[in-house]
Amino acid sequence: MNVIYEEAINSVKSETAGCIGSDDLKQQVASPCVHRVLRRILELRRYPEFARLLWWRTYVPWRVRSKGVAASSTVSYFGMPVVSIAGGSSIVIGPNCSLCSVSDYTALGVNHPVVLRTLRSRARITIGSDTGISGGVICAANEVVIGSNVLLGANVTIVDTDFHATAPGGRRYNDDPGVVGSVPITIGDNVFVGMGAIILKGVTIGANSVIGAGSVISRDIPPNSIAAGNPARVIKTLSEG
Ligand SMILES: CC(C)(COP(=O)(O)OP(=O)(O)OC[C@H]1O[C@@H](n2cnc3c(N)ncnc32)[C@H](O)[C@@H]1OP(=O)(O)O)[C@@H](O)C(=O)NCCC(=O)NCCS
Repeated sequence: MNVIYEEAINSVKSETAGCIGSDDLKQQVASPCVHRVLRRILELRRYPEFARLLWWRTYVPWRVRSKGVAASSTVSYFGMPVVSIAGGSSIVIGPNCSLCSVSDYTALGVNHPVVLRTLRSRARITIGSDTGISGGVICAANEVVIGSNVLLGANVTIVDTDFHATAPGGRRYNDDPGVVGSVPITIGDNVFVGMGAIILKGVTIGANSVIGAGSVISRDIPPNSIAAGNPARVIKTLSEG
């Protein structure tokens, strides 16, 4: 917002810079000069951006909370995330998290807005402080816990359920929790998940680890590791600190 404001001020300054001269000259040029300045101030192309930023800082946080998300007041939103909460479930977002749902505000762009969805009663999504999400999907039928200082690269998908039974009989309509696999996911503090990675049910990723772009994580990854591939395997160990 400040950038836009400063840009507007600078453009006004540059417009008025040519208006200094003798009194007569001032009289002659004042009117067109004022018109030029007013025209620049009223230039409409600046306002959609202004309005957008205002919307994200006022309406979007309110809307997210009105859907039942316990989001810290210091969460930054870039665009409106898709949020749905099953009755009796919860979503908690810690301080200073950032949820980017529009491509203009993240280097890689996003394929869709951030999606936060609990699918069953008692399901929980908990996101720690200072965590960044760009166009990510987090779906919990059971529990997804994301630590603090976690980086979820563009378009990461985290789902703790298979959504459908692996047994073929009645698969289309059978969402009985007894037959649809669903196991909690835990992502430790300071984990960096590369773009487009997919994290499946039951996985724990240890603190500080890095997940390669496009990886499919179906088994636990120990702390301080770099894991990549499909299925992901540890390719390196990080020295602590
Ligand atoms: C995971 C990553 C950080 C590892 O980087 P690195 O430590 O420099 O690893 P290297 O490039 O030395 O690769 C080591 C091995 O892992 C393999 N590898 C690396 N990344 C891989 C990936 N995403 N998927 C599969 N294999 C991968 C390499 O082919 C190499 O295999 P080899 O030893 O058989 O030749 C990096 O490859 C990566 O995926 N970066 C993308 C991060 C990202 O998504 N950023 C955007 C955030 S919005």
